[in-house]
Amino acid sequence: MKKFICQIPENLFEIFVVELNGYGFEILGRENQEVNFAIYGQDEEFEDIKQVIEAIFEDIGNGKIQRIEDIKEEDWEEKWKENFKPIQVGKFIIIPEWEIYEEKDFIPIKIKVSMAFGTGLHPTTRLLLKFIPDYITSEDTVLDVGTGTGILAIASKKVGAKSVDAFDIDPRAVEECKINAWENEVDINCFASDINDNLPKHDILLSNLQMDIFKDRFDILAKKFKKYWLVSGIFKEEEKEKILKMAEKNNLQLVKIDSMSEEGRDDYIWYGFVFKHN
Ligand SMILES: C[S@@+](CC[C@H](N)C(=O)[O-])C[C@H]1O[C@@H](n2cnc3c(N)ncnc32)[C@H](O)[C@@H]1O
Repeated sequence: MKKFICQIPENLFEIFVVELNGYGFEILGRENQEVNFAIYGQDEEFEDIKQVIEAIFEDIGNGKIQRIEDIKEEDWEEKWKENFKPIQVGKFIIIPEWEIYEEKDFIPIKIKVSMAFGTGLHPTTRLLLKFIPDYITSEDTVLDVGTGTGILAIASKKVGAKSVDAFDIDPRAVEECKINAWENEVDINCFASDINDNLPKHDILLSNLQMDIFKDRFDILAKKFKKYWLVSGIFKEEEKEKILKMAEKNNLQLVKIDSMSEEGRDDYIWYGFVFKHN
């Protein structure tokens, strides 16, 4: 097992986390406006993980892998289990794949975090998990754009969606989505694709994506839903205003807006929206 110990300036850490696509990490400390963190991987994944981390650092123009340590598998598993706390969001509770949830208070979603541990759920994911039960009915077909771990697709199916399609540009995410759907015993059609004009129209569209993707693809996505479009991934006031302008241009009406800040960082505010056609 390998442990990648990395460092990145604090102001870029959130961008790194979003690009990491829902994979986990462990924060080791914050010092001199830098964040130190670790990502774990199996020996056979070593080159892949290293490439992923380096590509993101290159993309955002900063950050470095400080060192790579060999660790014993059983240490990692124990640490994983110690660190992973169930995460409750709205009607859902997110639990690791080995846990059995017998209470009735929340709807369980099992997530296999294969690369690492210790992660909380990002506010962008939490925002959509909170919206999902209010906007999806048993008559609805759902399309999850950029599914990552499949968490939103699974949540949609668990609240009773008629059918759920989920895709991601990253084939590793598609595999994660398939595994997690299987762990949760729900039927989800997970596939690899980029956002394009040929995607079929669904009742509900879910998209937790970065702003630069919305900038290019908002107009395409705006045509791909019939009832509601649940949008997340929008950071701070400036991006919020841009999204609202794009929605207006596409003749969409704002049904709901909500925001959530990072834990312990009140100025790191993420926005989520629900739109319908005018
Ligand atoms: C912020 S993550 C969201 C993951 C998950 N839906 C969630 O809410 O936790 C964004 C995902 O979109 C995917 N993605 C980025 N660009 C895409 C594109 N053009 N087409 C499809 N998926 C894309 C990424 O690979 C990543 O898995």
